[in-house]
Parts: sequence; structure tokens; C-alpha cells
Amino acid sequence: MSLLLGVNIDHVATLRQARYARMPDSPNAEPDPVEAARDAMAGGADSITIHVRGDRRHMQEADAFRIRDAIPLPLNFEMGVTGEMTSLALRLRPDFACLVPETREEITTEGGLDVAGGFERVRATVDDLQAKGIRVSLFIDPDIHQVQAAARSGAAMIELHTGCYANASGDAAARELTRLAEAANAGHAAGLQVNAGHGINYTNIHGILQVPHLAELNIGHSIVARALGCGMTDAVREMKRLMTADPND
Ligand code: PXP
Repeated sequence: MSLLLGVNIDHVATLRQARYARMPDSPNAEPDPVEAARDAMAGGADSITIHVRGDRRHMQEADAFRIRDAIPLPLNFEMGVTGEMTSLALRLRPDFACLVPETREEITTEGGLDVAGGFERVRATVDDLQAKGIRVSLFIDPDIHQVQAAARSGAAMIELHTGCYANASGDAAARELTRLAEAANAGHAAGLQVNAGHGINYTNIHGILQVPHLAELNIGHSIVARALGCGMTDAVREMKRLMTADPND
């Protein structure tokens, strides 16, 4: 089976919120995450990933429903393990839900979910979601104990946190790849679908491809950053064209 790509478009909403957080209904509110999802689909995305955080710093609930209704790709909903998010997921009915740890101060999801430590709460959330047909993934560090706890929880999938690998170099990066491979082997042996994500970019992707059993990668920041780079020339050219056009034309 070929490796699938889930594109995380949270940062498109981050950019919109930077200007329009207090004017959510402004007709000028841009960029629109729905358009970004459509463009990602045109580029070959296999699914769209969004995270509605407790503090609503980027995606809003309305974005989640608009993307679900407009985009004919599987929707992967990242969520904290809270009653608020479970009830939102049950209304939204995404194809997948990925349970992540969430703290207000963090810049992005900074570590894996402690499934072993918060086992009963995680298992209850997995049950609630999967009973309604939403396949659940647990975002965990590449740690065998967490993989085993994830398997006991009944979740269908794990997403291995690749952030330590992404931030390492040389021998340290090689050690992180070994940890990822061991966790992936353990997850596969336990019957879990094994995904991976966080900090994957156009350079470190080569190492990730050495990890066995991966079904899907979730990539956000680097793709959104690259999209800005690719699109800047055209965006400026179009504005210059409008500025120099004859107003009487
Ligand atoms: N997977 C999970 C569970 C995440 O929380 C994130 C970040 O939102 C990603 C993947 C994507 O990470 P990045 O933006 O670094 O590609």
C-alpha cells in the first residue's frame, strides 16, 4: 500500500486569525482554509487534517464544518481529550480523530499523549468516538510502553511523534529513527495502523521513509511555508499588474 499524505492546514487559519480574529464574518477574511484544502486536494493530498484547539488560536468550529461539507476527502480531526472536543467531534463526524495532548502555552503539540498515564480517560474517549464510526488515532511518542497502552485502549491507529527526529541531526537523528522504527514495529505487531507526523519537511522526509509499516504522514508547517514561497512571485506579479492597469479599461 502506498504511503498516504494528510495535509494539516491549521496555519492557513493562523494567518487569517492574525488579521481577522475579531471580525470573523468580514467578507475580507483571508486566507480561507476551505480554499487551501481544495488546493491541497488538487496537489494530491489524501486527507485533510485540522486541529480545533481549546483556545481557538487557528481553526474555528465553523471552519471544521465548512471543510467537512465542501471537501470530498477524509477529514482527520485533531483534538484534545476533553468533553468539549468529544462533543464537537460527535457533531462534526470526521472520518478520523487524532487525540493529542494540549496545553495553552505551547506553540504547537510539543509531546505525545500520555496514554499509559491517563489510560481510563483515553479509553473512554476512544470508545465514545469509535462507537459512532470515527476511527481514532493516538498521537504518541515512539515509546514501547505508550504503543502497548494504545493497543490496549482499542484505538485503531497510532501517530508516532516525529518531532525529536526532526529536531536532531547526525547520530542523534539516527538514534531517533531507530526509536521510531522500534515503535512502528511494535504498533504493527499489535495490529495498529501506524502513522507519523510533526516537523516533517522536504529534507528530513528521506529518513522518515526508512521507518517500516507507515501508512500515513501528517504534514503541516513545512507544506504551508513552501506554499507561501511558491506563491509569492505570482501574488506580487498580480498586484503589480492591477496597479499598472489602465483604470479606464
Ligand atoms: N500531527 C499532529 C498530531 C500534530 O499535532 C501536528 C501539528 O499540528 C502535525 C502532525 C503536523 O506537524 P507539522 O505542522 O510540524 O508538520
